[in-house]
Amino acid sequence: MALFSIQVKDVVERDMPQAEEWLACAMTSRRKEFAAGRICSAAALQALGGDSVWPPIAKPSRYPKFPKEFKGSITHTQECALACVGDAERYLAIGLDAEPMVEHAELEQMANHVLSPPELNQFKKMDRERALTFFYLCFSAKETLFKTLFPLCHTDMEFTESELTSWDDEGCFTLRLVTDRVSDRFENGTLFRGLWSVHAGTLLTLLALPRKQALPTLDSQLYVPDFSYGRP
Ligand SMILES: CC(C)(COP(=O)(O)OP(=O)(O)OC[C@H]1O[C@@H](n2cnc3c(N)ncnc32)[C@H](O)[C@@H]1OP(=O)(O)O)[C@@H](O)C(=O)NCCC(=O)NCCS
Repeated sequence: MALFSIQVKDVVERDMPQAEEWLACAMTSRRKEFAAGRICSAAALQALGGDSVWPPIAKPSRYPKFPKEFKGSITHTQECALACVGDAERYLAIGLDAEPMVEHAELEQMANHVLSPPELNQFKKMDRERALTFFYLCFSAKETLFKTLFPLCHTDMEFTESELTSWDDEGCFTLRLVTDRVSDRFENGTLFRGLWSVHAGTLLTLLALPRKQALPTLDSQLYVPDFSYGRP
């Protein structure tokens, strides 16, 4: 698996895409973010022995379509972009998300929308700093699960359809699907174990679904992906 990141400010005009019509009309900041994600994807593909290509956009849903030998995911903030790619023989799907940990005045309202009742219960008992981390971890992990599953299932998801069941300061988390609506492949109660970290005020989450291993149930061994990382 390869994970690459780049600062959006380091993207220059000659890196910008011309091919996508909708991007030609987009603001420079959006075009830079798009290019930054694709530069990371191309570097990760190359690091795994593939061609250094920019994954095209699936229509109409807009997820990146990686070459069939690979699975991957892209995320970006205004500052940085990251892409994670893995071998499709080993991984069924990969999801990646980055969220700047902004201290919104409306954090409580946002928490009411994003967190399940048990999550909200924990959130309310935490001091402000811990609560901020917990909120963004829940938010980002749920976005990452959506980005992992969507290219497989083509189903939109709500924040209430997954729940953080555990997390630790070593950077592991477990998310449980609490719906059977997403797909026949992933039943209600399926556990997804991912990795999280905070870099420069941005919370990152990563999920990698193994292809040849059954997804865990509550009392079985959970799968932890290994990953390498670097800069293009
Ligand atoms: C796709 C989505 C998750 C993007 O989240 P975001 O935090 O705004 O943005 P990120 O930078 O993390 O990700 C954007 C990238 O995700 C990828 N992406 C877009 N749609 C995707 C999808 N349906 N599935 C997987 N990846 C997708 C693209 O590569 C995109 O970058 P690009 O347009 O430059 O190529 C979000 O916009 C969305 O569609 N949400 C609806 C579903 C949802 O959020 N439900 C609640 C959580 S379960």
